[in-house]
Amino acid sequence: MIKIVTIIGARPQIIKAAALSRAISNHFQKEITEVIVHTGQHYDDNMSQVFIDELGIPQPNYNLKVGSGSHGEQTAQMIIGIETILIKIKPDFLVLYGDTNSTLAGAIAAAKIHIPIVHIEAGLRSFNKAMPEEINRIMCDHASTLLFSPTKTGFNNLVKEGFNPNNKAPFSADNPGIFHCGDVMYDNSLYFKEISKQNSTILNDNELTEGKFILSTIHRNNNTDDPVRLNAIFSSLHNIALMDNTTIVIPLHPRTSKLLDKNLNKELLSSVKANDNIKIIEPVSFLDMIALESNCKMIVTDSGGVQKEAYYFNKPCIILRSETEWVEIVEQSAAIIADANENKIMKSFNELINKDNLKFPLLFGDGKAAEFICKTMLHLK
Ligand code: UD1
Ligand code: UDP
Repeated sequence: MIKIVTIIGARPQIIKAAALSRAISNHFQKEITEVIVHTGQHYDDNMSQVFIDELGIPQPNYNLKVGSGSHGEQTAQMIIGIETILIKIKPDFLVLYGDTNSTLAGAIAAAKIHIPIVHIEAGLRSFNKAMPEEINRIMCDHASTLLFSPTKTGFNNLVKEGFNPNNKAPFSADNPGIFHCGDVMYDNSLYFKEISKQNSTILNDNELTEGKFILSTIHRNNNTDDPVRLNAIFSSLHNIALMDNTTIVIPLHPRTSKLLDKNLNKELLSSVKANDNIKIIEPVSFLDMIALESNCKMIVTDSGGVQKEAYYFNKPCIILRSETEWVEIVEQSAAIIADANENKIMKSFNELINKDNLKFPLLFGDGKAAEFICKTMLHLK
């Protein structure tokens, strides 16, 4: 029997954690005990609890209730809370997901007291250190003992940074093991697709017709906090909705909702509000999100997770960033990087809307990444 502590905190990592908890519950109940620590980075019900309830994640054993704050403040409080719990529980592994401040805090706390770190979604790089997430990923990877990369590109990035693919067990922070295992979010997309079909009423609730609407999400800090970028994005969405007479549904992250009044110019804000084709709604549950993703005609997003889910549900995607960690979907021409540039966004829209031969070959594993991770942890302990 091994004991793991899993850190969750922000929306995407709560959802990712469902895959591992499900694999443990279905296949490894006698071999793996999981203790879940929620940092409280996200705390609104629709950013946190809804996923725990809906996706079958065990209720967290601890909630540090750290909440929002500056990077330093938020991360520091998490480190203190996580360290205390790790000292008490003494797990065999600390499991971390992705690239948020909760990930970084877990990495710093565990590395200093020599608890082996398992990093799920290792090796992803934007090569843009202005992103807080890029700092978090690099620091977490370099403190980890077992690194699980969802893509071949991620695995290769690790090798380029000096990780030795020929390292042999026993692994440690000084002799880490790197693995290419597929994406736990692909596991989740496959598993929850049918459940979403049976349970979600989001299309009816919002009077959306299958194949006739565009889905958009915006939350990346360099888009929300920069008025030029935020205006360019909303102006593009407004114009697409008018030009194409298409409904655009935008489940808006609270970070963005709180900044619309401040950062959008008044004229654009009132045009957007008066545009019946634009539906700005509260963040939705994962089952509802899957229903939106699998029934829309296109996705426009700056989210890492949502751009990848666009690919999983065979939808074209406009990426509202200057680069992506998920380069495979751009290489397949299923997604276009348009940055927050109005011309590029409109050009990408016209290009993608007229393409009927998009291809979505399987690139993200076999839907069993979480099982592979559990087996590897057990085998190597
Ligand atoms: C964080 C992650 C980002 C990830 C995103 C997923 C970091 C540095 N960033 O960004 O990588 O893509 O989560 O959603 O960790 N807020 C609420 N209610 C909540 C949570 C947040 O109102 O439940 C608001 C607060 O005003 C807060 C702001 O959103 O200040 C930003 O939240 P924060 O967790 O700091 O960063 P995100 O932008 O969510
Ligand atoms: N998501 C959701 N409801 C929403 C918006 C996103 O369930 O209203 C899901 C989405 O399907 C994906 C994850 O949240 O699985 C992505 O999280 P987010 O965009 O917040 O962060 P990122 O992936 O960019 O770090």
